[in-house]
Order: sequence, then structure tokens, then C-alpha cells
Amino acid sequence: MKKTHKIEISKYRNKSSKKSSKVKDKKTKKRKIMPSFISNQIGGRINIKKYTKVIGSGGYGKILSNSEQDTIVKLYYDSKDCTGLQNEYDMQEKAYQSITNYPISQLYVPRQVEYDNEELIYNGESFLCGIEMEQIKPIPLDSITSLSNPMIHIILKKDTAKNQEIGKITTEKISEINPSRGFFASPQWIEENIMVNLSDPQKGEIRSITDLAFRMGFSLCNMVCLAEIYPYDVEYCLGFKNNQLSMNILDFGMAKSINFEEPEDDIVTKIIDGNGKGVVGIYSDIYYPEYNSKYATKFIEGIKNCLENYVKDDTEINKKKIQIMKKIINAEF
Ligand SMILES: Nc1ncnc2c1ncn2[C@@H]1O[C@H](COP(=O)(O)OP(=O)(O)O)[C@@H](O)[C@H]1O
Ligand SMILES: [Mg+2]
Repeated sequence: MKKTHKIEISKYRNKSSKKSSKVKDKKTKKRKIMPSFISNQIGGRINIKKYTKVIGSGGYGKILSNSEQDTIVKLYYDSKDCTGLQNEYDMQEKAYQSITNYPISQLYVPRQVEYDNEELIYNGESFLCGIEMEQIKPIPLDSITSLSNPMIHIILKKDTAKNQEIGKITTEKISEINPSRGFFASPQWIEENIMVNLSDPQKGEIRSITDLAFRMGFSLCNMVCLAEIYPYDVEYCLGFKNNQLSMNILDFGMAKSINFEEPEDDIVTKIIDGNGKGVVGIYSDIYYPEYNSKYATKFIEGIKNCLENYVKDDTEINKKKIQIMKKIINAEF
């Protein structure tokens, strides 16, 4: 596929404008760096004792679940990575708030329960920080609950899905040291293995892949215009919530705040192509459909639905946001 969008790539550099507020930690008397978004409101302790199962691991840390399967934790070893985890918490919180306040049926961001940046010990191993969040439940079909990781990734970019479980290191086989990130499914696989096996009440308002494409477009507009973040490298997974199929947005580790004071075209470029290296942005992220592909029409309708419902006030900033989304719709990403 050739890159055809014509907007000039800006010379934007990530200046990492993380503003952390410092809070005095009573117990240790050390100054504790808190994520900027959460400020003093949260930052308690994660009850690590309730976690019993490792569902993901890598050089950075571990992801654990508990027997009730209500929450998971992401734990990091290194204080360097903890700065990233703070950003992740902030970005996910913004996305969660805007999907909750400006919703569409059956589309969710996992609710975060706690952010902890004191030492956490699991199984004799020491971690420096962690996020605790709602666990996305698997779709209750045997073929899915039997997977080592039951998250079904919705890959709408043409011919990118492998229809198999993919590990943290995508090119290597799944193992203890390369745990599964979930099943990377093509539209056809989702149709044949999920849609036909769920009842109408279980499917709810998600009756076809185009309903997923619609929600993906809606979510892009929601994250950009309402949460005001670049949703770099987020993952779209199918799960189950309130006895219905759910579409979920995960992993805000690479997401970044948008500064709407920047020139319109720079923002458009960054949404499409990240920092211009073809690594992140809707042009390279594997979940989003391509321009002119089978699912692009519904994806665009989803963007428009979000604009019409939630970005309609006649303020200067909303006019700019609408212009940005129109350029995205017309750009050949
Ligand atoms: N809240 C959650 N509920 C269920 N599974 C999750 C949740 N968060 C992450 N996972 C699973 O763990 C995998 C890795 O989590 P992710 O946040 O993507 O970590 P990383 O930053 O290491 O990529 C995801 O692809 C997903 O399969
Ligand atoms: Mg991930």
C-alpha cells in the first residue's frame, strides 16, 4: 500500500510535556510524583495479594489477573517505565471519561481503579508502579475461552490479520516469556466464529463487521475531539459486558495529548501518521480500515455520528475540530 495523503508532515518533536505534580508521601516522607491528570485524587495502594495469575509478561513487568476476574494489574519494574505508566494512566483516564460521557452502545474503555507508585511485591518479585483496572471479560464461547488469552483483536486493515494468537514479540512463538496478546482476527473470522454463534440479544446492536467499523470511527472522533488525545497504538478487542458483545479500547501506553493550538494541518498529519515515521497513526495502526476499503464508509459514518452528536456547539475550538475530522475523512490514509 502506498502512502497517498498529501498533507506535509510537520517537524513536530515530542517534547514530552508531562507535568507531574509532586505530593508528599506521608509514610516514606519522600516526594512522590503523581500523574498530572489524576493529581491528588487517586494514588492509593493496589491490593496485590488478591492477584494469582500472570496473563502477560515481558522485560517491562507483568500483567496479573485474580480469581474473580474483575480486575487486572499492569506492574512495571523500572522507574524509567513508570513515567510511561503515568502517561498511560492519564491518557486512559481521558479516554474513559469521554467514552463514558459521550457514549455509543457497546463501546468501552476499561475503568481504572488505582494507580500505585510505591513498591509492589508479587511472588517475591519487586515492582515500582502499577495500574489496576477493570478486566475485560471474554466472549462466552468455548473456542474463545479456551485460548491462552481470550481477547479478540479486531483487525480491519486489509490482509493484516493472521487469525491466530500473537505474542508480545509478534514474530516469535507464544511461550512463558512471550505471552499471548490475544487472537488477531480478520473480519471474516469474526463473522464465522463469533457473529454466527451468538444470539441476537447477545449481539445487541453489533450485528455485523460494519457495526464494528462504525464504532471504530466513532471512537477515533471521540478520542481526538473529546478526550483530546492521539490514540497511537491503541488496541481494539472484542469482549463481553452486561451479557452482550463489547468492543473495547486498550493500551494507552503510546497515546499523547493533543494541543489544539497547533496548526490544523499539523494535527491532521499527526493523527494520520504519528511523527511521520509510519510507525503509529491511523495510516499504520493495524486496527483501522484503509481509505476506500470495504469498511471505510461505515468508519467515516461513525466519525460523522460522533461529530453530529457531540461536537456541535458553535465554538471556535469545535469548528477547528470539525475541520480536522473533515480533513481526516478526505485524506487518503
Ligand atoms: N483490562 C484488560 N482486560 C483484559 N485483558 C487485558 C486488559 N488489559 C490488557 N489485557 C490483555 O493483555 C495484553 C497486553 O496488555 P497491554 O495493555 O497491551 O500491554 P503492553 O503495554 O505490554 O502491550 C492485551 O493485548 C490484552 O490481551
Ligand atoms: Mg499492547
